[in-house]
Amino acid sequence: MRPIRVKMPATKVKMQTVRVNLGPASYPAQVGASILDQLGKLALDAGLKPGRCAIVTDTNVEKLYGAQVADALEKSGFAPVVISVPPGESSKSLATLELLYDRMTAAGLDRASAVFALGGGVVGDLAGFGAATYLRGIPLVQIPTTVVAQVDSALGGKTGINHRHAKNLIGAFYQPRLIVADVATLATLPAREFREGLAEVIKYGAIMDAPMIADLERDLDAILARKLGLLELVVARSLAHKAAVVSADERDDGLRKLLNFGHTIGHAIEASSGYGKYFHGEAVAIGMVAASRLSSAYAGFSADDASRLQRLLERAGLPTAMPTKLRNDEFLRALSLDKKRAAGAIEFVLLDRLGHALTRSLSIDEIVRPLSMAPDP
Ligand SMILES: NC(=O)c1ccc[n+]([C@@H]2O[C@H](COP(=O)([O-])OP(=O)(O)OC[C@H]3O[C@@H](n4cnc5c(N)ncnc54)[C@H](O)[C@@H]3O)[C@@H](O)[C@H]2O)c1
Ligand SMILES: [Zn+2]
Repeated sequence: MRPIRVKMPATKVKMQTVRVNLGPASYPAQVGASILDQLGKLALDAGLKPGRCAIVTDTNVEKLYGAQVADALEKSGFAPVVISVPPGESSKSLATLELLYDRMTAAGLDRASAVFALGGGVVGDLAGFGAATYLRGIPLVQIPTTVVAQVDSALGGKTGINHRHAKNLIGAFYQPRLIVADVATLATLPAREFREGLAEVIKYGAIMDAPMIADLERDLDAILARKLGLLELVVARSLAHKAAVVSADERDDGLRKLLNFGHTIGHAIEASSGYGKYFHGEAVAIGMVAASRLSSAYAGFSADDASRLQRLLERAGLPTAMPTKLRNDEFLRALSLDKKRAAGAIEFVLLDRLGHALTRSLSIDEIVRPLSMAPDP
């Protein structure tokens, strides 16, 4: 009797591809659920050379996904060394960068060797800058594992470290050759980190995609439950928006400024309430609500849409009210120290309607009045 042969269907992993169009520096961002196992093949398809390479990660992410990523690379002929840094913002430092260079030279990485940045924005920024500067630049692959990194920091080419005088003071524009965003990794992200990333997602809807706001209103519960299919759609849609902006304005001089919606006030809140109290995305959520109010005052944004946006942020578990303990003088100083300041006025991103943003110069007084900030005693 002939044995019955069962032909397994070739398992085709579904993923969405977002093209980042930057002329000869164009690259794909692949988004999908459980696509980490495809990493080696995707890297070969993107033109990376197998052989020696580095996986740069932090110790949290290494425990969760380090082995899986190393296996996926080895299957395709890569020989990765894993370089793991402590988790957290303090790793975006010169000291950690030096350690990275030490490990890269010890591993014998050469000009064809790739750096695979596996982790959140901290790892992406640090490893990205390491790749940009080691041997004057070696290939970089971003493998973002937080919502912030998947919808924002992995795409766009901003890399760098902090200086004791300022965040992100030292850095370079350096584009990756490939982004692989596996939304299944978001399952292990702590709840507060997950929610903060949704602030940036909602931002894309607010500034450039009104139907996305309606879709988020419909799907938010499933997104918060981290349903993979929806996460894939949300991450791909967000990345497509960022890709469109970055393709049109790689260096941050025009259109790219619109991505700062909510960030001018957000940064001032982060600075004046002490870094760490609010997560970045939380401060941006408050900043977007404040900027919506300014938009109603100066750009004809409807009050109904402003409250719609606020409700959506609240449902996502994000704060929306200006902190009561904020010292106004410190807040105002932080606001006018913001780098978007030009001669006494502050360049603000406002909405004239949902899904459409513009910039407007506002004086400190014009900013403070609609926010009805109480004068300091
Ligand atoms: N380059 C850019 O354009 C850009 C844009 C936005 C933010 N950033 C930078 O990104 C950084 C913030 O990034 P972040 O919010 O991703 O923070 P992060 O990299 O510090 O990650 C947050 C925490 O989550 C952990 N983690 C990461 N992935 C995980 C997972 N899948 N499961 C469980 N835990 C996980 C990390 O170990 C860390 O403790 C800041 O330094 C910011 O300046 C850069
Ligand atoms: Zn941001």
